[in-house]
Amino acid sequence: MNFKSYIRVIEDFPQPGISFKDITTLLQDGTVYKQVIQELARQLRDKEIDVIAGPEARGFVIGAPLAVELGIGFIPIRKSGKLPGETIEADYALEYGKDKLAMHKDAIKPGQKVLIADDLLATGGTIATSINLVKQLGGEVVGAAFLIELDELNGREKLGNIDIISLVQY
Ligand code: PRP
Repeated sequence: MNFKSYIRVIEDFPQPGISFKDITTLLQDGTVYKQVIQELARQLRDKEIDVIAGPEARGFVIGAPLAVELGIGFIPIRKSGKLPGETIEADYALEYGKDKLAMHKDAIKPGQKVLIADDLLATGGTIATSINLVKQLGGEVVGAAFLIELDELNGREKLGNIDIISLVQY
């Protein structure tokens, strides 16, 4: 399946110079969406993963169905101020702008093997911060999975020595 052909590219969004990869056109096709999740699951099935963590908001769209497909739990990594329980937080810089990410302090049991999932790896800032939070909570990050990877931004280099998979590259 040529997943790339279902992704719409919109130039100069949300600001001039950014070539936005719009996955809504893929998600609205239930067959293709399902195949994306099944393909990621196929590539991950042999790995030992206890739980998937995914950053708001588009990380939920990939991470949560992937967790269901693999029969494991899902942990939301949210922007600051959204989680109701006790949290830890970390600042991060984005391809455009910056923000804070937060996780519940009790989201991960020490030693759990965690896969991080998101729709897109760009500069790697979001996932590097997510990895940092998971590690602070005692989790072991065993890999990261993406629908899209923007090769020229070299996001992989920020993620250290973990397995990284992506289905579509630009
Ligand atoms: C986008 C995307 C990734 C991140 C990738 O999310 O969904 O999470 O940026 O960029 P990076 O590799 O440079 O960190 P965004 O922060 O725009 O939030 P959203 O999913 O809520 O739209």
